[in-house]
Amino acid sequence: MGSKHISKNIFQLLTFLLLSILMISCNKSSERAELFDLRIPLGLDSLTMFIPEDNPLTIEKIKLGRKLFFDERLSVDGTVSCATCHNPLLGFADGRSVAVGIEGLEGPRSTPAIINRLFSQVQFWDGRAQSLEEQVLEPIENTIEMNNPLENVVKTLNADESIRNDFQKIFGTDVTVEGLQKAIASFERILLSGESSFDKYMAGDKKALSESARNGFLLFKSEKVNCITCHKGTNFTDELFHNSGVGMDLEKPDLGRFVETKNDTDYGRFKTPTLRDIARTSPYMHNGSLRSLSEVIDFYNRGGIRNDNLSIHIKPLNLTEEEKENLIEFMRSLTGENPLSAGKNQSLGIN
Ligand code: HEC
Ligand code: HEC
Repeated sequence: MGSKHISKNIFQLLTFLLLSILMISCNKSSERAELFDLRIPLGLDSLTMFIPEDNPLTIEKIKLGRKLFFDERLSVDGTVSCATCHNPLLGFADGRSVAVGIEGLEGPRSTPAIINRLFSQVQFWDGRAQSLEEQVLEPIENTIEMNNPLENVVKTLNADESIRNDFQKIFGTDVTVEGLQKAIASFERILLSGESSFDKYMAGDKKALSESARNGFLLFKSEKVNCITCHKGTNFTDELFHNSGVGMDLEKPDLGRFVETKNDTDYGRFKTPTLRDIARTSPYMHNGSLRSLSEVIDFYNRGGIRNDNLSIHIKPLNLTEEEKENLIEFMRSLTGENPLSAGKNQSLGIN
């Protein structure tokens, strides 16, 4: 083997290496360009985010998810979309005590505001869905919500060329159930509420909160009132389940987490909801039984509703009228910007 041969081989090897490096870096940068640059609103930055590894946030997926979220064809008779119940103008809830699905049918529970879902692993009042992806299919198949068999949803959406093209571009397939789950979950992950008066106050703007709200916050975290033991952290939830007695005085109470786990300790327990945007989303509690924040405070002041599994943290509070008003003022200060308001949408880069 002559020296000419060796140098030719080395030359080929170097060319090959150079090309490989180029290809790898090109690939990487195209992935990066696709990824969505999620900006976390003031006040929420210390929270853990739940984004599955196989469903990274990309702009195209979020846009498709937004389309599907507002698409009434997800329901069997084309009348109900996710936004029918999770209405952006009503804080992503519906302003009703319990949800109303197809043909005006009423469900057993109240529609939660679907904000800051990025920061929760399990979903639903009883935590029965392990992820947002898993959650998506329930309302579609639920007979009193959208009542649509999944094969039918896939068939209907596949007949729409623009939707089918979106799926091809993003997932490289026609419409699939998995793609539907991933897209809608991605859209839900960007519905964030922060940057409230409370957050501005915590960030140093001492004038952002009224004296009443400041006193309310002191009470909220005081040993006496101690709401913070369950509504903790900057999303105001411990992500755990508690029995405060809501609905336990009914003839056939909703047993909440117990239905899911069959553990006696879970009897009548429900997930601690976030208090973000709470002034926007009356009525309150899993059965929508309390109409206003004032009724909620009266409920806690009475020590919830007595039952065998009542949380030890729920007890009569003996609040004065002024203290009640302060707690309400504090909760009102947790109202953020609407995550889909025009300016914000543009800054999210998805218009
Ligand atoms: C008929 C009204 C209705 C429709 C339609 C509906 N939802 Fe819901 N949604 C509810 C109710 C009621 C609950 C609470 C159910 C429970 O916890 O058992 C809920 C719960 C949720 C939750 C859990 C929130 C939390 O804090 O745990 C998410 C996320 C959600 N819905 C997203 C969606 C998506 C996405 C769609 C469309 C595919 C949709 N919903 C369609 C009424 C509705
Ligand atoms: C033992 C834990 C615990 C404590 C203490 C607690 N909460 Fe709650 N909170 C919950 C749970 C669980 C729910 C949902 C209950 C249900 O629907 O069955 C809830 C619901 C609420 C709601 C309604 C939310 C919605 O979206 O419907 C508000 C408002 C609220 N709590 C405020 C407070 C305030 C104010 C305090 C202090 C006075 C307080 N909580 C103390 C666990 C707690």
